[in-house]
Amino acid sequence: SSTSMLVFIWDCIMEDLERDLLTFEGFYFHRKACDTGVLENLDDFELRDDDVFVVTYPKSGTIWAQQILSLIYFEEHRKRTENLESHHRVPFLEYCSRDIDFASRPSPRLFVTHLPYYLVPRGLKDKKAKIIYIYRNPKDVMCSYFHFLNTYPVYKAADTIDAFMKQFLEGKVVGNLWFDHIRGWYEHRNYFNIQFMMYEEMKKDLRSSVFKLCKFLGEDLSEETMDTVVRQATFENMKNDPLANNENALYWNFGPKLREGHFLRKGTIGDWKNQMTVEQNERFDKIFQKQMKDIPLQFIWDVN
Ligand code: A3P
Repeated sequence: SSTSMLVFIWDCIMEDLERDLLTFEGFYFHRKACDTGVLENLDDFELRDDDVFVVTYPKSGTIWAQQILSLIYFEEHRKRTENLESHHRVPFLEYCSRDIDFASRPSPRLFVTHLPYYLVPRGLKDKKAKIIYIYRNPKDVMCSYFHFLNTYPVYKAADTIDAFMKQFLEGKVVGNLWFDHIRGWYEHRNYFNIQFMMYEEMKKDLRSSVFKLCKFLGEDLSEETMDTVVRQATFENMKNDPLANNENALYWNFGPKLREGHFLRKGTIGDWKNQMTVEQNERFDKIFQKQMKDIPLQFIWDVN
């Protein structure tokens, strides 16, 4: 029957997932790129007061934050006088960092991570360093994630939106359940020196968002520098910029692309409307309302 066929396909996806995902303290990591040495030593990670951590759930604007921070902190990046990709300037804490000696990196050290609040270096709870948490409406996150995994062979993903929605809502992806990730960070925000930023606000008014970010970071940029940062951090500029578009990043290029596509795909608000059916959307809404009813964060679902 078609039901048993679906169950069979689902079981195959789950079996492949077990192989591609690594579990550590109940959290999924992308096995091929993950540095278990870093994970095992997170508690002892020596923080500096001027460290900056960007925390995201996957597909919420990580590479965007890497580019913005690279532009704020590195004149060579703004002027393009040094041929270094932004993910080398702002490396992942837990991915492809084996060759990076964090301890000898000059200050301020900049990092990105997908870690949940309970796994980050313990010292962050003493408000030692700064954290920027970027969140995005979860329907767009899910659609972005679906396309990403069907383009880059990072780990096995369902190949229809419907099946991926099941995978996403069960949290069987790197980042685990979106609702748990944002809830954990939100509910524990008072333990950290943290600034929440919204992808959609960045999209609607990048300049104000960069300004807010600089204020939090204590970086005083001239108008001219601000112009440069904002100009070079737009989707269009990043898409055409090999130092910023992640096409050559090590994290997910473990084989040929599964199908044509780019890391910087659309960069819009509300693409879920083109991807999800009315029925899928209603199902999603019910779960969202239940899961988020006590979390007063605002979301922007479309640009009307
Ligand atoms: P889409 O797939 O919806 O296009 P991450 O880096 O966390 O994996 O997030 C990737 C998502 O952020 C992709 O979403 C990508 O296009 C989007 N993105 C990256 N840079 C952006 C920018 N400058 N402006 C808007 N969206 C951007």
